[in-house]
Amino acid sequence: MAIARSIGTLMFLLFLSTNVIADSSTSTTEFTFLGFRANQTDIQTESAATIQQTDGLLRLTNRNHNVTGTAFYRKPIRLRDRSDNKLCSFSTSFIFVIIPSSPGNGGFGFTFTLSPTPNRPGAESAQYLGLLNRSNNGHSTNHVFAVEFDTVQGFKDGDDRRGNHIGLDFNNLSSAVQEPVIYYDTDDRKEDFQLESGEPIQAHLDYDGATDTLNVTVYPTRLGFKPNKPLMLHRDLNLSEIVKDAMFVGFTSATGKGQSSSHYVMGWSFASSCGEGNPVSNWLNVSLLPRPPPPNVSGKKGYDAQVVALIASLSIVTLFLLALLFVFLMYKRQVEEGEALEDWEIDYPHRFSYKDLYLGTKKFKESEIIGSGGFGIVYRGKLPSSGDVAVKKINQNSLQGVREFVAEIESLGRLSHKNLVNLQGWCKHNKDLLLVYDYIPNGSLDSLLYTRNGIVLTWEVRFEIIKGVASGLLYLHEEWEQVVIHRDVKASNVLVDADLNAKLGDFGLARLYDRGTLTQTTKVVGTLGYMAPELTRNGKGSTASDVFAFGVLLLEIVCGRRPTNTENFFLADWVMDFHTNGGVLRAVDQKLGSSFNGREAKLALVVGLLCCHHKPTVRPTMRNVIRYLNGDEDVPEIDGNLGFSDSSRDDILRSNVVCNVSTDRASSSSTTFSFSTEVSSGSLGNGR
Ligand SMILES: *[C@@H]1O[C@H](CO)[C@@H](O)[C@H](O)[C@H]1NC(C)=O
Ligand SMILES: *[C@@H]1O[C@H](CO)[C@@H](O)[C@H](O)[C@H]1NC(C)=O
Ligand SMILES: *[C@@H]1O[C@H](CO)[C@@H](O)[C@H](O)[C@H]1NC(C)=O
Ligand SMILES: *[C@@H]1O[C@H](CO)[C@@H](O)[C@H](O)[C@H]1NC(C)=O
Ligand SMILES: *[C@@H]1O[C@H](CO)[C@@H](O)[C@H](O)[C@H]1NC(C)=O
Ligand SMILES: *[C@@H]1O[C@H](CO)[C@@H](O)[C@H](O)[C@H]1NC(C)=O
Ligand SMILES: *[C@@H]1O[C@H](CO)[C@@H](O)[C@H](O)[C@H]1NC(C)=O
Ligand SMILES: *[C@@H]1O[C@H](CO)[C@@H](O)[C@H](O)[C@H]1NC(C)=O
Repeated sequence: MAIARSIGTLMFLLFLSTNVIADSSTSTTEFTFLGFRANQTDIQTESAATIQQTDGLLRLTNRNHNVTGTAFYRKPIRLRDRSDNKLCSFSTSFIFVIIPSSPGNGGFGFTFTLSPTPNRPGAESAQYLGLLNRSNNGHSTNHVFAVEFDTVQGFKDGDDRRGNHIGLDFNNLSSAVQEPVIYYDTDDRKEDFQLESGEPIQAHLDYDGATDTLNVTVYPTRLGFKPNKPLMLHRDLNLSEIVKDAMFVGFTSATGKGQSSSHYVMGWSFASSCGEGNPVSNWLNVSLLPRPPPPNVSGKKGYDAQVVALIASLSIVTLFLLALLFVFLMYKRQVEEGEALEDWEIDYPHRFSYKDLYLGTKKFKESEIIGSGGFGIVYRGKLPSSGDVAVKKINQNSLQGVREFVAEIESLGRLSHKNLVNLQGWCKHNKDLLLVYDYIPNGSLDSLLYTRNGIVLTWEVRFEIIKGVASGLLYLHEEWEQVVIHRDVKASNVLVDADLNAKLGDFGLARLYDRGTLTQTTKVVGTLGYMAPELTRNGKGSTASDVFAFGVLLLEIVCGRRPTNTENFFLADWVMDFHTNGGVLRAVDQKLGSSFNGREAKLALVVGLLCCHHKPTVRPTMRNVIRYLNGDEDVPEIDGNLGFSDSSRDDILRSNVVCNVSTDRASSSSTTFSFSTEVSSGSLGNGR
């Protein structure tokens, strides 16, 4: 009972829906779409089909593989006259464009279809063209008639293996009739052309219901007129066996697994009428239509399938490698967390990129060298960010502890005094440590004292330089948060700026070695002539050994003579001789003549001698030195027995100093030496 009733209801509904269709279809229909943007609601698109908002083109499929797309006029069309049951006539015209993913690899095509439904549920892609599927293909219950525009060899592996053809399909995608694509020119000559050429192609289908005749005409739109002779003229189609009273008209399309095209419809006109006379669909004036899609529309669609595949796989590989790298870096970072990688991120002093320094110094060119000493070679450089700089390159180092090293660099960067060369930044590259300093235009005191032809530093400048160096050393020894021992105070490490202010360079580097954060095959302990006697015995620098070197430097500035030479000349002894003979002012630089302040000169010489005392404990502190030089405190008497004995010199020259003499490149003279020594306690030395 219940079943019977449901079936009854179902029948009624079916009847009703058929009637609705029948009633809603009028005996004539006419429409014209010049592009589809304005008429979107009149078109039912499904699957890949869409009306493009940008240009109003109806796109049946894009070039994705294995897709279908259908677009039907939403209202049903009456195809059978209600009064005499004869078939109605129709005429339709449309302009389409097929753009293959690559030439000869397009697929599969599209159809103009008369369908009982405004969509094709269950239809398959590829050779089924979005129209039917493998299980319903050929069934008379399909009630579909289609004109197929096929760009792939036909559904049936028949004799015609050409892809470029037009066929008539009656419920069955094995076309009952098919023709290669040609048009007849004005002289009735056949002209063939490619459906998937990418250019607009116009099609006319004219069906005469009375004679059951279909004319199919296809030609490139650029031809500008409809050829007189149709490509197909087919009588006795028997459409009456297929079509229902009302049918939907529209397009189906599909791409294949390997072959794909994008299929576009630019414009479409349709007209149908039942009864007398044949309708003629409106002429589509191509200049009123949206512009055809560009042959290779945006992005990947333009590329060969293989190229796309290649790019895609390369991208995937690259992404994978990047991901690996990222994971590795994260892992490394985790492992090194204890090594204080976060300390590497300090930006004061600034961490420069090696590339900038490399390019800024013209690849560390020889001609850019402006100085050299025990700690490394100094290059002049020009950086986009900082302008002129001096880049000190300390090579042959191996970094011992990252955390300690960075801490040292950071503390060096915090050292700031007007008599110290400003450290701008640093860079670590392989085994090289690069320190970037302010560039000081006048160069080193060494070159000012000895190589400036004709130009003599005045007494006032010399005295200011002495006080400046003293002030810088005092800062290092006492005024900063930690005691910094310079260990290499000498004329070539004193730079003189444009205003003739002294700036001490190379400070703090000894700490890097002392703390073992930098190692060198040879250890730098100082420069011959400036080295305190005790250094040769224990190799340990102290503030007192810095004071000794300062004393030598002071005497050097006043006397204009190098501290020592390869013979037995020692500046301190030489001055001491004048001092004991009561004529210390005779030690003053001859080039000054008499233009110097005698009181100041004498003061300076005596302070210098005091600093050069062979006993570290007797030497004054830098604070005292400054007080003496400023006249705030009287200089203690220097007795004749300060111990400038030959034995202390012998220590320097003969004991445990293994001389690795290298010329000091900052000075043009070869009479001063920096030398590197292996100082090991109790070393036997190479006595000569
Ligand atoms: C398409 O849209 C335009 C503008 O809205 C309208 O004038 C025309 O009648 C529509 N065509 C169809 C076939 O609906
Ligand atoms: C094509 O797509 C359909 C679903 O849209 C899927 O079932 C079928 O397996 C696909 N065929 C190929 C060859 O990828
Ligand atoms: C479009 O792409 C095809 C194949 O990728 C290529 O052969 C053709 O030259 C391209 N056309 C234009 C206009 O770029
Ligand atoms: C084929 O299409 C019909 C009609 O839409 C549908 O009922 C059927 O399930 C489809 N078969 C397959 C295998 O998709
Ligand atoms: C479809 O058409 C082909 C060729 O006309 C025919 O061989 C085949 O049997 C038809 N299929 C069905 C299911 O009728
Ligand atoms: C089909 O083409 C022929 C030859 O050009 C023509 O005589 C006939 O009228 C056409 N039929 C229709 C329905 O347009
Ligand atoms: C239409 O049917 C008639 C008679 O059944 C037949 O002779 C003719 O070949 C059919 N036409 C087509 C195109 O199948
Ligand atoms: C197409 O439209 C343009 C612009 O409206 C017009 O100038 C031209 O004459 C038309 N061509 C045809 C063949 O109707």
